[in-house]
This record gives sequence, C-alpha cells and structure tokens, in this order.
Amino acid sequence: MQTQAIYMLLAAVGLLDPASATLLRTSMPLMGWNSYNYYNCNPNESIIKANAQGLVSLGFDKLGYKWVTTDCGWNANYRDSSGQLVWVSSRFPSGGKALGDFLHGLGLKFGVYSGGGYYQCGSTDLPASLNHETTDANSFNNWGADSLKYDNCYSTSNTTMVDNTSPGAVSPTRFETMSKALGAVSRGIVFQVCQWGVGENLGIWAPPIAESWRISNDIQNNWKSIWRIANEVVPYYKYTKPGAYPDMDMLTVGLGALSHEEERFHFGLWSIMKSPLIMGAPALTSATSSQSLATLGNAEVIALNQDSLGEQARLVRRYTEEEWDVFVGTLSGDRLVIGLANWKNGSTAASVDLASVLGISSATARDVWAAQDLGTISGTYSKTLAPHQLQLLVLSNVAKTSATPKSAGYYTATDATLSGSAAKTTCSSTQCLPAHAKVGFIGQGPAAAAVTFNGVKAATSGTKLLGVDFINYDIATDSAWANGSNTRNMTISVNGATPKRWAFPISGGNWFDTGRLQIEVGGFKAGDNTVVFRAATDGQYAPDLVGFEVFE
Ligand SMILES: *[C@@H]1O[C@H](CO)[C@@H](O)[C@H](O)[C@H]1NC(C)=O
Ligand SMILES: *[C@@H]1O[C@H](CO)[C@@H](O)[C@H](O)[C@H]1NC(C)=O
Ligand SMILES: *[C@@H]1O[C@H](CO)[C@@H](O)[C@H](O)[C@H]1NC(C)=O
Ligand SMILES: *[C@@H]1O[C@H](CO)[C@@H](O)[C@H](O)[C@H]1NC(C)=O
Ligand SMILES: *[C@@H]1O[C@H](CO)[C@@H](O)[C@H](O)[C@H]1NC(C)=O
Repeated sequence: MQTQAIYMLLAAVGLLDPASATLLRTSMPLMGWNSYNYYNCNPNESIIKANAQGLVSLGFDKLGYKWVTTDCGWNANYRDSSGQLVWVSSRFPSGGKALGDFLHGLGLKFGVYSGGGYYQCGSTDLPASLNHETTDANSFNNWGADSLKYDNCYSTSNTTMVDNTSPGAVSPTRFETMSKALGAVSRGIVFQVCQWGVGENLGIWAPPIAESWRISNDIQNNWKSIWRIANEVVPYYKYTKPGAYPDMDMLTVGLGALSHEEERFHFGLWSIMKSPLIMGAPALTSATSSQSLATLGNAEVIALNQDSLGEQARLVRRYTEEEWDVFVGTLSGDRLVIGLANWKNGSTAASVDLASVLGISSATARDVWAAQDLGTISGTYSKTLAPHQLQLLVLSNVAKTSATPKSAGYYTATDATLSGSAAKTTCSSTQCLPAHAKVGFIGQGPAAAAVTFNGVKAATSGTKLLGVDFINYDIATDSAWANGSNTRNMTISVNGATPKRWAFPISGGNWFDTGRLQIEVGGFKAGDNTVVFRAATDGQYAPDLVGFEVFE
C-alpha cells in the first residue's frame, strides 16, 4: 500500500487564476469515511468522533482511509452577525474548529460539506454557499478543513430541492466560483464536486477545478445501483488521471443490502475505476460485519485504486445476453488489471482470448480477491464466475502480441439504408464532440426502425469483432432516475439471423460524444454481408449510431 502522497498543485487551467490558486490535490483517489450513507443528514459530534476513532482503532487509517467528512446536517439555519455559517450547537456543541482539531489529533483529515445553492440538501432552511463562496471558504479554512464536498441542491430556487434540468442547475459556474475561493485561502483544501454528472461535458469542465467529480446521482443501497453507476462511469477514462478522479459515490459496503460477493464486486469496481473509496457504513461499530470490514480492508484491492498511474479501467468487451463484461486497466510497473464482471445472479462461464481482447500472448496472473498466484496464462483464460462475482486479475510479465484483430473496413451509419423512424441528425457547432452526424430515433413501435448495412465485407465466415461507435447520453432526469437504467438496448442481426441484444452504456458528455463498444457478433459469411441494427423490443430507443468497424 502506497502512502497517500499529497502535493500542492497550481491549477493547470485557465478557469482558475493561477496567481492565487493553491487548491490541494491528492495524487491518488481520496479514501475515507462520510456520514451520509448511514446517518443521512443527521450526523452529530459524537457520531463523527466515534467513527473517526473506529477508523484508527481498526487500522483503516494505515490503509489510507484518512478523510473523515461530515455531510449534510451540520449547520444551523442562520448565518452569524459576520455572515458566516454556524455549526448547529445542538449536534455539534464544540463547533467545527474543535472537530477539526480532534480529527487532526488522530492523524486524520477534516472533510467539510456545503453546496452551491440557496439551501443545503435535505433541508428546507439551512443556508448553503451560493453567493457566499469567499466567506465560506474562509470559514472552512479557519476551522482547519482539508476537503470540501460541494453539492448542488436548491440550485435554482429556495423551494426546489433537486432540479437537474434547468440551465442554472447544471451550470459549472458555481463550482468554478467555489474552486477559486478555496484556491485563495491559506490551507490547501481538496475540492470535491458533487453535481451528479448532470449537464454537458463534466469530464471537460470539472477536472481543471476539482479533485473528483460525482458522475451520477446518489448510490442507492441496492444491487441495481451498481449496474447504473458502472454504466455511467465508462466514458470518463478519457479524463481520469492523477489528481482528477470520477466519483462513483460513497460505498454501500457494510450497509447490509448486498451479499458479500456483491460487496466485493462493488468495492473492486470502484477501485479499478479510480473512484474515491469513501466508506458509508458505520464502520466501525458492531453493525458492520467482519466480512464487510475485510472487503474494505483488502490491501491488494486498495493498491489497485491507489496505483500511481491513476488510470481508469476501460470496458473492452460486453456480452449482454450472457451478462458479463471485461474491464482492463493499466497499472504501474507494466502491469494490467483485468476485471471479469458477472452481472448475472447465476454462474457464468467467462472466457477471454488474451490476444484478441488484451493484445497479449502470455502473462503471470494473480487472482486478487482469492489472493492466489495462478502462474502463467496464455491462449484463452477461462473461468466460471460465481453469481455477481467480479474477478480481479493482476497480470505482470506481460508479453504483447501483434496477432490482434485488424480492421477490415468501416461502415458509416449515415450511409446505411434507414427505415421507419431512424433519421440522420447533424450538429455543426463547435460544441459538437467528435460525431457531427449520426443516425438517431432508432425506435420500436409502429415506426419501428432499422439501420441496414449491405455489402459488409468479411474475408472468412464466423464471429467477428465489431467496434460499434454509438451515442447514449441518457442521463435520466426524472425523480426515479436513481433507480432507473441509463443503458440503451440495441440488437444486431447478421444475414437475417435472430437479432442479438447489447446494452450500451453512457458514451460521453453530450448527445454528440461518441463511445465505442467492442462486441463479438456471429453469423458472418465470406464475402458480402447484411448487418441490421434495431431497437430491442423493450419499447425504448436504441442508442444513436455513428458507424461500426469490422475486425478480422
Ligand atoms: C448523537 O447521536 C447519538 C445517536 O442518536 C446520540 O446517542 C448522541 O447523544 C448524539 N450526540 C449529540 C452530541 O447530539
Ligand atoms: C425564497 O426566494 C423568494 C424569491 O426569490 C424570496 O422572496 C423569499 O423570501 C425566499 N424565501 C426564503 C425563506 O428565503
Ligand atoms: C440473487 O439470488 C439469490 C438467491 O436466489 C437471491 O436471494 C437474491 O435476492 C438475488 N439477488 C438479486 C439482486 O436479485
Ligand atoms: C429507489 O428504490 C429504493 C428501494 O429500492 C427506494 O427506497 C428509493 O426511494 C428509490 N429512489 C428513487 C429516487 O426513486
Ligand atoms: C433492455 O433489455 C432487457 C432485456 O429485455 C430489459 O430487461 C431492459 O429493461 C431493457 N431496457 C433497458 C433500458 O435496459
């Protein structure tokens, strides 16, 4: 386990005034504890102290869990005569400075919380920081704060708690204002954006001003949240690097809803995606099972999260009907981490052709959760995954191969034959990310759509690797979105065979930001093929289609 090296970094980008900006960045994702997932907006001084003490007593601080954050519920419903936020005396009789001193005395870091709106989340009258950024940054500084989690409630009015559609609510401006205010105080304070990933291009505007940025709505204490958030974090590998991390939200490990296998899946996935690892369980009381504590305390998995390259794993294969995925990330020391993710609540036979999926001929493998060396693997790696298992393999002594699938042609969707509701859409402004033209409205129902590609060349018959360029920015914005799915289904049929379904994750920062899903599709014959993309029968639109590449 590497110690969390901390360094001051002048904010690299023009959004901050470089002369004054001394925002603190940590080189590795933050690790710690936060009061919200268990105590909601009802923390108090003894709760925070007991959990902080627990982190130390159980040795979690030594593993890197140092940042202890008091979430919503800490402040009083007024500002004092000098306009400052006030710790509510009924719950925090000793105040913020004393709490900070207590945490620092334990060798921990003091995390504070506010929001860029009129009121704090979960309240109807607790003031937040909008229009008071400099005053509040100075208060945080005086209390000895080391980090600020900055939320987005009551962003457009003092009556609507969650508004994630109107321009004010999705605007980066208020986060930039607070980032700048924090950069101007004497302490280095880490800035954690919690804007839920709404609005466009979070991956572009947030990394320059903040250490981490929530990419999704709140995690719920259930399994389907893991699928939802996993599908939303996929495109952020483009922006993740040391000091800039996608926040998948606080952990639900230890909160009793997930099985132990699911908790390992959750913790392992957050680790390889380089999310901050913030415990949400009342850690450190008898309410948290020893198995959950063992999961949270697995030093080998933590080391994957804290790896010095800070590189997020990528989704490199998806087998939707079979319900498993392959994630791959690069680690320091020329190593790779492989995540074989079984989304099925049943066992699944996974098999990975090392050359075509990973571009390697052989490697030395270690199964991280099993804490077992597997020796040399080559050819095809096969594993029967348990229900909801995420197997994590670390590969070292990696021998690369050039015997990987080669491009055998690219087919652009706007050149295909469109039927039903399917239609070409264009975007010419500079706001458009890579795709300036695509095929959208690929729907079901009376106007069922098809995008038909004729003359798709293959040299040989059989299964081909396709790289499908698609667009899905279905960040749902209604009240049920926390529990909804943000994937979109699309089926592919080759030469008239039964269509097969794939679930497409979020592709990027807006409706013109392209993602690529790498999938294996059967039924090709040597020569010309007809490939048809359609919406699935779930009544939803398919993702928009930009085109696809065939590999042989
Ligand atoms: C904090 O909450 C706990 C649990 O509800 C309670 O026992 C304790 O007295 C509270 N302490 C303060 C300072 O409010
Ligand atoms: C809420 O905002 C309205 C108008 O913006 C203002 O008139 C009202 O006083 C505010 N209410 C509170 C409780 O701050
Ligand atoms: C998975 O299956 C087990 C055993 O049948 C069941 O108890 C559990 O509720 C299922 N989990 C989910 C998330 O559906
Ligand atoms: C999500 O579902 C859980 C139950 O599984 C429920 O408690 C929660 O309120 C739901 N959240 C939203 C935002 O609908
Ligand atoms: C995708 O298809 C599956 C299987 O039919 C279905 O359960 C799911 O609700 C569909 N829709 C989305 C948006 O995932």
